[in-house]
Amino acid sequence: MALIREIDYGTPKRVSQTAVTLEVDGKPVTVPAGTSVMRAAAEAGVQIPKLCASDNLEPFGSCRLCLVEIDGRRGTPASCTTPVEAGMKVRTQSPRLAKLRRGVMELYASDFPSEALNSTAGVTSEFQEMAIAVGLNEVRYGLSGRNHQDSEKDDSNPYFAFDPAKCIVCSRCVRACDEVQGTLALTIDGRGFASHVSAGDKPFVESECVSCGACVQACPTGSLLEKTVVAGGTPDRSVVTTCAYCGVGCSFKAELEGDVVVRMMPFKDGKANHGHSCVKGRFAWGYTTHKDRITKPMIRAKITDPWREVSWEEAIGHAASEFKRIQGKYGRDSIGGITSSRCTNEETYLVQKMIRAAFGNNNTDTCARVCHSPTGYGLKTTLGTSAGTQDFDSVAAADVVMIIGANPTDAHPVFASQMKRRLRQGARLIIVDPRRIDLVKSPHIQADYHLPLLPGTNVAVINAIAHVVVTEGLVDEAYVKALRHGSFRAVAQVHRRTEKFARSAGANHRRASRGHSRRRAALRDGRKRCDLLRFGRHRAQPGIDHGDGHGESGDGNR
Ligand code: SF4
Ligand code: SF4
Ligand code: FES
Repeated sequence: MALIREIDYGTPKRVSQTAVTLEVDGKPVTVPAGTSVMRAAAEAGVQIPKLCASDNLEPFGSCRLCLVEIDGRRGTPASCTTPVEAGMKVRTQSPRLAKLRRGVMELYASDFPSEALNSTAGVTSEFQEMAIAVGLNEVRYGLSGRNHQDSEKDDSNPYFAFDPAKCIVCSRCVRACDEVQGTLALTIDGRGFASHVSAGDKPFVESECVSCGACVQACPTGSLLEKTVVAGGTPDRSVVTTCAYCGVGCSFKAELEGDVVVRMMPFKDGKANHGHSCVKGRFAWGYTTHKDRITKPMIRAKITDPWREVSWEEAIGHAASEFKRIQGKYGRDSIGGITSSRCTNEETYLVQKMIRAAFGNNNTDTCARVCHSPTGYGLKTTLGTSAGTQDFDSVAAADVVMIIGANPTDAHPVFASQMKRRLRQGARLIIVDPRRIDLVKSPHIQADYHLPLLPGTNVAVINAIAHVVVTEGLVDEAYVKALRHGSFRAVAQVHRRTEKFARSAGANHRRASRGHSRRRAALRDGRKRCDLLRFGRHRAQPGIDHGDGHGESGDGNR
């Protein structure tokens, strides 16, 4: 298998009810209104040279490499910042455009380390590809003028290096940190020739950077580059895989040289991550070749014996005969199997099949059943399904986000980045947590309400919120009726004692409930709008009134 190259359409996909048809190099193409000429061309199969544009970033229009000609327009507009219009006739190739693009690349190349421009080691950069695409074969200005080639490298980050000599100040890294990751660790400092990328005038490792790698991925020149690639790896094939670190399930292209991983690149087609990543999946994959990994089967007769490496045949034969021996001695029910929540559905299915069909009993379980049963029980009771009712992408349409007992920026950073994008667009945020998690206040984000409840009072606070929603007439009756679950009202019929309890827990739940409901989030368009984000595990506390007057315990552990 070869290296997977994904198409970069240059600018983000637009959504519109209005379709626009235009011609690019004589090819008709129809795209949603608001689409850039660059993207329309890419959709028609025409790649326009570019350096500062990428389809996960808003267009910026700084490099001037993507110029095109449009019938009836003067000049050569940048295709990345020009929106399509019906009937437009666009030309992407002409002697004039070729000359202009070569001139731009020549200027860049005159301040670019020549060895980096010509090097074939490591990964070919977009800059090198563009030099070839525009036919750059001379630099008339020479390489000895005023330049940045002696700029000091920043090697401080453990996973990637920053070489300002290769930087063309296209701002893709800055925009990736702002728009994709939401950390806002980078900026362009200085003006004109002195402008440069800065991590707040500090080395990367001392800055706000969380090492997600989005800027490295965005950089078209190799100015920001993974150290594993710098160390000499030239990947020759990719394997698409799923990160096993957290529950987000990000897709990655493992880029390998032979059988050795050179780097992990987030996969744009990944439905959970859309080409983004966090530090764990992107850089913390040293375990793949760690010396402590067990790569051969081993057995030992007694726990006091040393392990002995054996063939797979011997290991499987040994396990099978031991299972038989134990069942023969202690009975059919003496063995069983449990899978981890890290297993795929298919693996869990296979294990239960083996237990039932081969061992002849029903002693099979998965740890996910234990830790997620409160979630499943609550969802089934209120919404009629024990599965989540939202996908990650729905956060992009949320008016209100409520986070209970979870810390997404730490635990599920890739989803947190998607959520932060929506929050920066103006969605309201309610955090119910004793901790002051990062999202309570971080760059360009401030929670509307932080309910710092006492540990163990989640159920009381939720019941109190439900009480306010019901008693103040904030329920969307039509939505609740559509659920066909009478139990919702029972859940919301909360004894006043619970509200009192929640108040004593420091929760400003009344104002939060009103904000929440009046923005028509949780109880109204729940299926269309991402509302309650349930990442944490919330166990019901013994002795707390659940609204049914029984003060039962154990819901959370069913
Ligand atoms: S690695 Fe991530 S957090 Fe750090 S500067 Fe780059 S984009 Fe920002
Ligand atoms: S480091 Fe790379 S992405 Fe950032 S401005 Fe320089 S060339 Fe562009
Ligand atoms: S890609 Fe359009 S100006 Fe850079």
